[in-house]
Amino acid sequence: MRWHRPAIDRSNRDGLASGVTVEEQSAGREAVRSAVLERLTRAGCVAAEEEAGELMASAPDRGTLERWVSRREQGEPLAWITGQIDFLGRTLHVAAGVYVPRYQTEELAARAGRLLPKGGRAADLCTGVGAVAAYLSSVDPGATVVATDLDRRAATCARSNGVAVVVADLDCGLGSRSFDVVTAVAPYVPTGAMRLLAPDVVRYEPRLALDGGPDGLDILRRLVTGASRLLRPGGWLLTEIGGEQGTAIGTHLAASGFERPSFWHDDDGDLRGLVARWRPSERSRPTP
Ligand SMILES: C[S@@+](CC[C@H](N)C(=O)[O-])C[C@H]1O[C@@H](n2cnc3c(N)ncnc32)[C@H](O)[C@@H]1O
Repeated sequence: MRWHRPAIDRSNRDGLASGVTVEEQSAGREAVRSAVLERLTRAGCVAAEEEAGELMASAPDRGTLERWVSRREQGEPLAWITGQIDFLGRTLHVAAGVYVPRYQTEELAARAGRLLPKGGRAADLCTGVGAVAAYLSSVDPGATVVATDLDRRAATCARSNGVAVVVADLDCGLGSRSFDVVTAVAPYVPTGAMRLLAPDVVRYEPRLALDGGPDGLDILRRLVTGASRLLRPGGWLLTEIGGEQGTAIGTHLAASGFERPSFWHDDDGDLRGLVARWRPSERSRPTP
């Protein structure tokens, strides 16, 4: 049996010669897949099966696949190699050198999407590739969503994902008192805990994206202050935190005019994020 392929056909992307039978081709592809899987497993990839599938689906030819597998064996993030990642059902461009959005951040984005009023205004600080900002724009194309990042490479990447981003420190240049929602996944790893991160993360991902200073809260404290400038009364701040940071950041939130925050935890039961409301207007304040 011959396989008459259309001009553009993903099934021919593994570079098998035309003229082989379907059976020969799928046997060849299965052999390649097993070899890739074995190499990734040996290299210590936790999700080797999924990664093998993604590399094979994205590589345009056999030579590229070989180079990509070698890079992955060295520990380079998969998303830098394929240049993309899925975030809440959207494919985003990820440039090499820019922090790779984690699937756990989907929770923050989904919560922010539910709190953003129709046609509202959102600011995503520390946007990276712009995953949260891009999601918020997709939830409501009528909303105004702006973003900042200190890293030029991140800003360029976020722009390629359709995000209106400025290279700036946290809330600088965004104006004040006009946003319904402020989101941020800022660096929050205590400097002393950086060495406890997965070796590949430490080796490849930018320190600027991870290191939050001695207690991990250097940027988060400034972020809370910045959010209190950006938010309109009754607006919401959502940010990721970790470890034992809830109490300390809760105190800072209260001092900056936020109501008591509520926290959420990830699948492993670890503290992952908080949502807090900035000074509701007098009218909507509950009577004591
Ligand atoms: C942990 S990454 C998160 C990126 C993105 N929000 C995400 O979830 O994929 C933190 C990002 O904050 C940026 N960043 C670090 N310090 C910053 C600052 N003071 N102002 C703005 N961005 C900052 C880094 O360049 C990095 O892109």
